[in-house]
Amino acid sequence: MNLANNTVLITGGASGIGLALAERFVRAGSEVIVVGRRADKLREAQAKLPGLHTRVCDVASAADRKSLLKWVKSEFPRVNVLLNNAGIQNRLPLADDTEDWEARRQEIVINLEAPIHLAMLFIPHLREQPNPAIINVTSGLSFAPAAFAPIYSATKAALHSFTLSLRHQLAATGIQVLEIVPPAVNTDLGGAGLHTFGVPVDAFADSIMERLANGEQEVGYGTSEEARLASRAELDARFRLINTR
Ligand SMILES: NC(=O)c1ccc[n+]([C@@H]2O[C@H](COP(=O)([O-])OP(=O)(O)OC[C@H]3O[C@@H](n4cnc5c(N)ncnc54)[C@H](OP(=O)(O)O)[C@@H]3O)[C@@H](O)[C@H]2O)c1
Repeated sequence: MNLANNTVLITGGASGIGLALAERFVRAGSEVIVVGRRADKLREAQAKLPGLHTRVCDVASAADRKSLLKWVKSEFPRVNVLLNNAGIQNRLPLADDTEDWEARRQEIVINLEAPIHLAMLFIPHLREQPNPAIINVTSGLSFAPAAFAPIYSATKAALHSFTLSLRHQLAATGIQVLEIVPPAVNTDLGGAGLHTFGVPVDAFADSIMERLANGEQEVGYGTSEEARLASRAELDARFRLINTR
């Protein structure tokens, strides 16, 4: 994809991977809007990246998703790229979990329902724009799950599957469908300090953007690049490795 001259809407773009991608799109000459739940995080992101546009939006809410589209159409009608990045990760013991289901369900709503609904909401708008694209952020865990984050891993496997179907269905519309497959990246995903073992976010984002610019449709990095290209036997070995740590 051409990284310049886009108007990019990034969910969850006030921190971590979303913010690193926002920075790079801005640097390449695109306009960027980031949305998230925390107004203070959005303000911090704006201070770091002058020119960044922000909006408070909880993608867990179907009403918020619909009003986001309405707002985009009136305030940023040139949005031609939807980057579904917002996500949460919970670690939980399936046999002993005491959390209320409504709280548990949020991981499915944010990680899976929201990107599916946003893609469907935005398709009619995007197809009227030049160089339209939908980019979904999945995970290396889409291919071999981390048993300690079972719902998370399932949502990411499902989002990978949906992305393949979306690309197939949209082939004739001109909307490109791209997938970013991160490995463990050092961000605050799941809570501060849980992903310090991950790769640095800047090195990850640089590599991803370079490969998107080169026209690749599905891009991983390090272990997630290995996972997305692995055979079934290699994935089984990877599953054992991840889950014996
Ligand atoms: N870091 C990793 O190791 C890793 C690996 C594989 C995949 N990923 C994926 O990469 C994406 C970005 O994660 P990250 O690592 O950058 O973590 P992060 O720093 O925690 O970023 C997640 C962002 O999503 C936003 N968000 C969460 N729930 C939201 C909601 N309901 N509505 C709107 N925004 C919401 C958060 O902002 P608010 O809380 O303010 O809403 C936050 O800015 C996620 O999809 C994650 O699953 C990350």
